[in-house]
Amino acid sequence: MIDTTTLTTVLRRAARRVRGTPEATGRRAPTGATVPMLGLRAGSRERLQAMMQASLANGHVVRFELPWITAHMITHPDQIEEVLISRHREFDKKTRGYDKLREFLGHGLLTSDGDFWLRQRRIAQPAFHKKRVDGFVGQMAQATDDMLDRWDRELSVTHERDVASEMMRLTLRIAALTLLSSDTESNGSSIAEPIGRAVTTLVHEANHRINELVTLPDHWPTRRNRERKVAMDTLDGTVLGIIEARRRALGRGEAAVHEDLLQMFLEATDADTGARMNDQQLRDEIMTMFLAGHETTANALTWALYLLGKSPHVARALRDEARTVLGDRAPTAEDVGKLELSRRVVSEALRLYPPVWIVGRSTIHELELGGYTIPARSLLFVVPYITHRHPDFWRDPEGFDPDRFAPERKGEMLHKHQYFPFIAGPRMCIGAQFAMHESILALSQITRRFRVSLVPGQIIEPEPMITLRPAHGVRVALDRW
Ligand code: HEM
Repeated sequence: MIDTTTLTTVLRRAARRVRGTPEATGRRAPTGATVPMLGLRAGSRERLQAMMQASLANGHVVRFELPWITAHMITHPDQIEEVLISRHREFDKKTRGYDKLREFLGHGLLTSDGDFWLRQRRIAQPAFHKKRVDGFVGQMAQATDDMLDRWDRELSVTHERDVASEMMRLTLRIAALTLLSSDTESNGSSIAEPIGRAVTTLVHEANHRINELVTLPDHWPTRRNRERKVAMDTLDGTVLGIIEARRRALGRGEAAVHEDLLQMFLEATDADTGARMNDQQLRDEIMTMFLAGHETTANALTWALYLLGKSPHVARALRDEARTVLGDRAPTAEDVGKLELSRRVVSEALRLYPPVWIVGRSTIHELELGGYTIPARSLLFVVPYITHRHPDFWRDPEGFDPDRFAPERKGEMLHKHQYFPFIAGPRMCIGAQFAMHESILALSQITRRFRVSLVPGQIIEPEPMITLRPAHGVRVALDRW
C-alpha cells in the first residue's frame, strides 16, 4: 500500500515534468481539482485537504474554474509578496467574498478600497500605535483575571468549559472596553451570549452566500432570512446603542473622558470638505472593529489552548514562565516582551490554525504571476493555512513546535513571507499588535492558574468558513495546579 507522503511526492514530480520550467510566461496555470472541490461541503475539513493536495500536485499557482469565475490559488512566498506588497495596486477587494461581507459589515476599513479606505485607515491608525496598545494592557489583563476568577468560583459546579465560547466572551469584552469604552459585562450579566450567537449565524450565512450560486432575496420569509435578521438586529442594536450612548455623553459635555477609537471616528473630519462621518459610515466602522477585533483573536486563543491541551509539557513550561515573569501580580506592558514562550506558542498556533485562513483579491487587469497569465477580474487567493503547512517551506509542517519561532532557529525560515497570519503590506491587519498582546497575556494568565486538559471523546476539527473556527467548539477540563 502506498502512503500519502509517497503519493504526494510522486504527484508533485509528475506535475513538474508536465509543467516544465515555472518561468514560462503567457501560459495558463495548471488546473486544480475543481470538480471534487466543488463537490465538498463548504466549510468542511476536506476542503482544506483538497486545497493542500491541489497545491502539492500542481505547484504554487493553481487554477480553479469555478462556475462563476476563474480563481487562482497562490501559495509561494515570492508571489505572496507580489500580491500583498510590491504589486498590491494591481488587486482590489471587488470579490464575491467581500461583496457578501459588505452585506453585513457595510463599507468599513476591512471591506473598502482606494482613497476612502486610505482616509479611514489614517483616522484609525493612531488607536493602534504601540504606545496605545501598551496602554490597553491593564484592561486586557483585568478582563482575563475576571474570567479566571469566575472559572475558579464555578469549579465546585463544573470543571468543564467550552473554551471557544469562553474566548469569544473574553475578546469581545476586551475589544469593547479598549476601543469603545463600553463593557459587555456588568453586575454578573453578560451580553456575550446573544452576540456570540449572532456572530456565528452571520459567519455561517456569509459563508453560505459565498458558496451558493443563488442567494434568495433578503425579504423572503425563509428560516435563514429570519435568523439572519435576528442576528443583524442584535449586532446593529448593540453597536448603534454604543454610538448613541457616546453621543448623549458628548451632549452632556463628557467627551473628554474618552480618547478611544470611537471618539477618533466621531471627531474625524474630511480634509477637503470638513464633513464628519455620517451615521452609516460610523456604524460600518464600529461594526467592523467590533467583529474583526474579537472573533479572530478568540479563534487564535482557542486553537492555542487546544494545542496546549495536546502538549502538557509545553503547558507546564508556559506556567513556569508565567510564574517567573509575572509572579502573582497583575501583568504590565513591559511583561509582554518577556513572555517569550507565550509569544512562540501564539505564533505557532497562528501558523497551524490561522484564523484568517484565506484572503481573496480581484485582479484589476490581466497580469503575469509566477510565470502564468491571470485574467482581468478573476479571483486570486493567498492561503495562510496552506503556505503555513507546506512542506516546501517548513520542517515537520504538521507538528506543534513553538520553538521554531525561537531566535536561534530563525535561519530555518527561508522566505520572509512564508508566515503571514496578519498578511503584509498596506492592508496588513491594523490590530496585529493588539491581538498579539492580548493573546500572549491571556495565555500566560490562564496557564499561570489552571491546568487545561482536553475532554476525551470529542471531535475537534477546523471549519474553514470566513474564519477558521473549531466546528464543534473545544471542551476542556480545568484544574488548579
Ligand atoms: C489573531 C487575531 C487576528 C488575525 C489573525 C487577523 C488577521 C487579519 C488579516 C489577515 C487581515 C487582512 C484581510 C484582508 O486584507 O483581506 C486583517 C485585517 C483587519 N483586521 Fe485583523 N486580525 C486579527 C485581530 C484583529 C484585531 C484585534 C483587530 C482590531 C482590534 C483587527 C482589525 C482588523 C481590521 C480593521 C482590518 C482591516 C484593515 C485594513 O484593510 O486596513 N484584527 N486582519
